[in-house]
Amino acid sequence: MKKSIEEANVKLENIDAIACTYGPGLVGALLVGVSYAKALSYSLNKPLIGINHLEGHIDANYITHKDLEPPFLCVMMSGGNTQIVHVKDYTTFEILGKTKDDAIGEAFDKVARVIGLGYPGGPKIDKLAKEGQPTIQLPRVHMDNLDFSFSGIKTAVINLHHKMPDINKADLAASFQDAVSDMLITNVEKAVKITNINKIVLAGGVSANSYIRKKFDEIAKNKNLKIYYPEIKLCTDNAAMIASAGYYEYIKGSRADLTLNAVPNLKFC
Ligand code: KG4
Repeated sequence: MKKSIEEANVKLENIDAIACTYGPGLVGALLVGVSYAKALSYSLNKPLIGINHLEGHIDANYITHKDLEPPFLCVMMSGGNTQIVHVKDYTTFEILGKTKDDAIGEAFDKVARVIGLGYPGGPKIDKLAKEGQPTIQLPRVHMDNLDFSFSGIKTAVINLHHKMPDINKADLAASFQDAVSDMLITNVEKAVKITNINKIVLAGGVSANSYIRKKFDEIAKNKNLKIYYPEIKLCTDNAAMIASAGYYEYIKGSRADLTLNAVPNLKFC
């Protein structure tokens, strides 16, 4: 993934189109990518395709799972988003539920910072939790619909740590992961009932979490669901997932022109 085009031995003449993320995200980073892609597209005379970053996270799964085809339900879990998405076909999506406050990755990162693990917190909580047990009672927020709320659990962990500085951090990390997994799985089970779709795809940086994967694998066995998640290197932001989304948008006929611009708050469907 870290290879340059030259090292990967991909020749520019073998590329059919140039895809780039144009939102959502931080405007500085988006502008760098969009400008480079536009210049490349113009100089090579190859079509330009603008990609929504979230579509890229979903499409990372097509690289890992050659057998995966829509329709399916996707649990999008990244630093900025938490959503249950009905993936109707390769380029048609419907959001069934989303977070009303913090994204799940944001909750991982804030909890990690407060308990002294540093940034990015997700992988550090994942590692520390392996040394602990989910024995600490933490509140779970379950909405009537398919939406999520992670600010309560985040605040509960932070408050507990302030009140009891000697609390076992590994148990706290394990209990936090157990609570968020529970909240995710409850909504996914509801979505399965509503849509009758039993194919579940995890996506986004937090889908690298080993405990969340284990919990989803367990419900897959018990509830006859099929679970997919990307290989670890494709969970967090990467270029290959944008190429994958670019492929399906290219087949559909999506094309951008040189007026393509960064859209930091780009909506997803
Ligand atoms: O998808 P991503 O790379 O960025 C966005 O597009 O937002 O996700 C980054 C998030 C961070 O919050 C990071 O802490 C989290 O993914 N993350 C994890 C793990 N690896 C990365 N969270 C929990 N467990 C992990 N193993």
